[in-house]
Amino acid sequence: MADRYGRILGDLRTKGLLRRLELHPGGMLEFSSNDYLNLSTHPDLKNAAAGAVMRNGCSASASRLMSGNLSLHEELERELADMTGMESALLFGSGFLANVGVLNAVAGRDDVIFADRLNHASLVDGALVSRARVVRYTHGDTEHLEELLSGTECRGRRFIVTDSLFSMDGDRAPLKKLDELSKRFGCDLVVDEAHAVGVFGEGGGLCVEQGIRPRILVGTLSKALGSYGGFIACDSVIREFLVNRARTFIYSTGLPPASVAAGKAAVNLVRSHPSMGKKLLEKAAVFRGMLKKRGFSTDPSESQIVPLVIGAGDDALAVAGRLRREGVSAVAIRPPTVPAGTARIRFSVTLAHSRADLERVVSAVAGIGGIAR
Ligand SMILES: Cc1ncc(COP(=O)(O)O)c(C=O)c1O
Repeated sequence: MADRYGRILGDLRTKGLLRRLELHPGGMLEFSSNDYLNLSTHPDLKNAAAGAVMRNGCSASASRLMSGNLSLHEELERELADMTGMESALLFGSGFLANVGVLNAVAGRDDVIFADRLNHASLVDGALVSRARVVRYTHGDTEHLEELLSGTECRGRRFIVTDSLFSMDGDRAPLKKLDELSKRFGCDLVVDEAHAVGVFGEGGGLCVEQGIRPRILVGTLSKALGSYGGFIACDSVIREFLVNRARTFIYSTGLPPASVAAGKAAVNLVRSHPSMGKKLLEKAAVFRGMLKKRGFSTDPSESQIVPLVIGAGDDALAVAGRLRREGVSAVAIRPPTVPAGTARIRFSVTLAHSRADLERVVSAVAGIGGIAR
């Protein structure tokens, strides 16, 4: 058995695709974090988390269906529902667990899930676990989706499942058209807002910004909200259904008090400072403009996530290494996270970046030879 694992690792190494855990060096100009609003170090979150630990301890100590249900959980759920414009919300251990639990609960053997080809791994896994038939449409291509919706037999229910903001390209799903198609073809629309919550729609996400209400919205506390944990927002019947059927909710310990309290503080901050996301997006537009001016393409980004496609995995690693030597932390993203031949540097702009920070990174990129312009 060891041989088999060793062979697979050797193969990954040869292809420049081996992943390695590295201690993150301090003191770098950080462009690889999902802490888009820099809330993870905000005093309100730290104080809220510390206070919750002192009052409630370090763990919920059981599934919420046993003895792990705290008033903190329910308060945060009401606030998340309000922020996303939905009737109710339910917390999960993480965004990954939310996606797997939700798709496994709502979809089954007779159903068909229509999924964007670039959906996040957790949506892919949730769809697989559900045993529904999965039909993938070309990324963002609603004409292709429409053809598939018209031409696919289904004895059960149909779902359209998409990220709202794609995590490796920074582009947005055509949510209005997906909403229209879901209504026309009688599908449930499931939208993963992991990278959009806190940033778009005054914090509520892209569905809020676009004025649409999916059947199920998935979010995370772990990115712009600076804490840890996942959630779904939906109507109260689906919430009750998930409490009874989502295995990653039922058979898992409730979120720890510190994460919930920090999440509450983050929601509070985002709602009381509704222009934070807009400021971040303006900053990201400036960064994309600077790169474009130097001849680099950041397509198709239209958000705080800015990819610089390099091509081969090894080359992307080399560019990330060069940036690190210049004091810039930006990760190389390689297949299978992104399609073969599109390994890239994924820059994520955060609210704390100054114009000088953005300029420093762009100069560092421009100083590295061999990146296509
Ligand atoms: C689109 C998307 N959905 C879900 C997740 C998972 O969220 P979490 O980090 O809370 O598990 C991620 C995280 O990378 C993501 O990018």
